[in-house]
Order: sequence, then C-alpha cells, then structure tokens
Amino acid sequence: MDDSRVQEAFTAAVKARENAYAPYSGFKVGAALAVRGLSKLYPGCNVENASYGGTLCAERTAMFSAVAENGKVPFEFCVVVTDTEFATPPCALCLQVFSEFCPPDFPIYLGTVKEGIQKKLLLKELLPIPFNTIPE
Ligand code: THU
Repeated sequence: MDDSRVQEAFTAAVKARENAYAPYSGFKVGAALAVRGLSKLYPGCNVENASYGGTLCAERTAMFSAVAENGKVPFEFCVVVTDTEFATPPCALCLQVFSEFCPPDFPIYLGTVKEGIQKKLLLKELLPIPFNTIPE
C-alpha cells in the first residue's frame, strides 16, 4: 500500500470527523477505512445519542458502512483522526470488531488534525488476544 493512499485516507478521516455528532462528550473522531481492491474509502465519524449507550464510534461506523455496501470484504487499513495533542487509539470494542473482519497484522494509522499521521500500529499490538480466538 502506498503512502499517498494513506494520506488520502487521512484527508477523508479529517473530513468525516467534521460530521461527528458529539454533543455529549464534545470529542469528535473521524475514521477512513480502505478495502482491498476498491479505490473508494469508507468514512466514519462518531454518532452519539441522548441514551449514551446508543453511541457508535467512528471506526465501527466506517466498518459497518463497508460491510453494508460489500458484505464481508478484506479490509486493508484504517486511519483514525482526533483533534488532540497525541493520537488516540481505537477503543477495545472497536478493536474487537476489527478482529472479526481483519487479520492480526491489519494496520491502524493514528493521526491528529494538526500533526497528520503520527503512528502506525497493528491490530495484534492493540488487541493481542481478541475474544473468540484461542490464546497460544
Ligand atoms: N469514540 C470513537 O469514536 N472511537 C473510539 O475508538 C473511542 C471513542 C467516541 C465515542 C464517543 O462519541 C466519544 O468518542 C467519547 O468517548
């Protein structure tokens, strides 16, 4: 995967973040998910609810949108963007959902609006033992 595609996904995640609906936390998150073999990127933002548990994270919004359009397809990488000083990793629930659709070496790029991409982490580094796998 070339760098320009990751940059393109970063731009898409920044744009998606602008659409985040976060009146309760004030914490806006943007994501963009690349699917192997498709040029289109799947953007996601967090969407909160007055009933807090109804909130959906940016990463899962992106994943579920890709599945809604394509079924189960191989995800290539994901970019997550916040407007914090340091980039923010996905929550454990989103990591668990990634593990349903992605291999352990799935790359997750973390960035901030101001600094751009700051870090590349693999799913297995963030969630070494997902639920429903057999620990070694
Ligand atoms: N949030 C995400 O969108 N992604 C994560 O991985 C962690 C948290 C959202 C959920 C909620 O709207 C806000 O950030 C504060 O938790």
